[in-house]
Amino acid sequence: MTKVAVSLLLTIYSLLITSTFSAIDSFVYGGCSQLKYTPGTPYESNVNSLLTSLVNSATSATYNNFTIKSSSSPTDTLYGLFQCRGDLMAGNCASCVARAVNQLGTICLDSTGGLLQLDGCFVKYDNVMFLGVEDKTEVLKKCGPLIGYGSDALTTRDGVLDYLGASDGSYKPYRVGGSGDFYARAQCVQDLSASECQDCLSEAIRRLKTECATAAWGDMYLAKCYLRISGSGSHSHGGNGNNNEDEIEKTLAILIGLIAGVFLLIVFLSFLRKACEKGKGGK
Ligand SMILES: *[C@@H]1O[C@H](CO)[C@@H](O)[C@H](O)[C@H]1NC(C)=O
Repeated sequence: MTKVAVSLLLTIYSLLITSTFSAIDSFVYGGCSQLKYTPGTPYESNVNSLLTSLVNSATSATYNNFTIKSSSSPTDTLYGLFQCRGDLMAGNCASCVARAVNQLGTICLDSTGGLLQLDGCFVKYDNVMFLGVEDKTEVLKKCGPLIGYGSDALTTRDGVLDYLGASDGSYKPYRVGGSGDFYARAQCVQDLSASECQDCLSEAIRRLKTECATAAWGDMYLAKCYLRISGSGSHSHGGNGNNNEDEIEKTLAILIGLIAGVFLLIVFLSFLRKACEKGKGGK
């Protein structure tokens, strides 16, 4: 019985903990260059040092870019960047980028370039220069169930989208907004200028409105920016509502759970000891 209780507790904790972090680490999309480099060449060590630079830099920044010039061939120059979700705290950004780089090493083994979007961060490297280049190619689109034209919900949804797309001229690479049941966030990769970011997000909003028409929720990932909106009738939707407050709440819940668990364990162990002593005394 004790084993069952303990393993039950452990299961509950691991569930709590994975539910906190899976939102950040969950896979959104990824891709690799078809060209492969020859293992053991300088290109490989440049890829490795680039990816290491990204991981190290993510401990102190939410965005950074690196260029590694090749001594042998100019076409072997490598470019790379990472972009964390604007609301991630430094530790979460670093662990997300580390996770992404780790996965890239597996899924893009020996590829000359690769990219991976997790829920909390984006990582890309390539020997084709892409830093500071605006790219509005649609990469991924998901639309939720339809809610119908003319409904109040649709008006609210579009209001939230327009709020996110509004520009006061300042640089806002990460945006959140909500109203009613709707919560939305948008993120530019920060190699874009303020006006390019604005342009990219406007395009994402326009496409979501047309391509997801009257859907209750939707994701629109363009190559250098994305927009996600969750609403009524959302299914589990990659932690869309996962802002700092949520994270703090979850961390608190885990902490309280742990303390309660330790307390229960102590009570249980002391009960066990008493029972043992009684057993011995009875002999
Ligand atoms: C790349 O990083 C350098 C140094 O941090 C920075 O000055 C530059 O603006 C960045 N370039 C882009 C395109 O983000």
